[in-house]
Amino acid sequence: MRALIVGYGRMGKEVEKLLHARSHSVAMRIDPREAADAPSLDAAHVGLSDVAIDFSHPAGVWNNIQFYLRQGLPAVIGTTGWEANREEARQLCEKSGGSLLWGNNFSIGAHLFFFLAGEAARLIEHLPDYDIAVWEAHHNKKADSPSGTALTTAQRILDNLSRKKHLLTTASEGVISPDALHVASVRVGSEPGLHEVILDSPQDQISLRHHARGRQGFAQGAVLAAEWLLGKKGFFRVEDFIQDRYFSPKE
Ligand SMILES: NC(=O)c1ccc[n+]([C@@H]2O[C@H](COP(=O)([O-])OP(=O)(O)OC[C@H]3O[C@@H](n4cnc5c(N)ncnc54)[C@H](O)[C@@H]3O)[C@@H](O)[C@H]2O)c1
Repeated sequence: MRALIVGYGRMGKEVEKLLHARSHSVAMRIDPREAADAPSLDAAHVGLSDVAIDFSHPAGVWNNIQFYLRQGLPAVIGTTGWEANREEARQLCEKSGGSLLWGNNFSIGAHLFFFLAGEAARLIEHLPDYDIAVWEAHHNKKADSPSGTALTTAQRILDNLSRKKHLLTTASEGVISPDALHVASVRVGSEPGLHEVILDSPQDQISLRHHARGRQGFAQGAVLAAEWLLGKKGFFRVEDFIQDRYFSPKE
């Protein structure tokens, strides 16, 4: 597979390592600021590449997506922050017979964790002794709180456990309401991302923990998603790839 790396920042550089590790080649690296092969996308790059992997910037990603779809270049979009254009992108993709896969979290381990959190919630539906909560820790430069991963985890719990009806993402003022799912956040040092689901009963405590070791998990997921995407047409989410590739029983 020949990949166009679009955005040669922290993620683009991880993606490059993973591409080499899986015996793929890098067609070109596109970045307006970093030392790359070209500052912007050009139709001349398309014939050199089988797929684009985009970890660039929210401000430019919608232009990039339109370019991939107009040029018929399959693309994996890891860049976040283009929710406002999602529906338009889907329509453009369908109209042009394009091939696009996007996701806010490409870590396969994180998706395994979401699945386990949902299953844990489902299993305690008829075990009222068990209460459940989520907490996360991240480095002290992180802009958002709670993390998107914590919110996705919490949503899987709400979807599977009828006694929890809403999230409490701030400190509890007094006693917590029993139908609130507490999602707590800690900001400390250089922690790359820790998420934990706690199941607690009068008898015992069970915890499910996802602890990221860095960015390589996201890059690995993006490269594996690009491999999966080749030869497919449509507008896919990363969940479609993970479900199909890993969570659906095959012969
Ligand atoms: N989906 C996931 O799993 C996942 C994981 C990590 C980061 N991200 C997202 O990926 C994006 C990049 O993250 P990062 O940590 O690598 O950031 P970064 O700032 O280290 O790198 C982004 C690079 O993109 C370049 N860039 C900006 N506009 C561009 C454009 N129009 N075309 C090409 N390159 C452009 C910048 O010059 C920069 O070098 C962010 O949106 C981040 O939220 C997603």
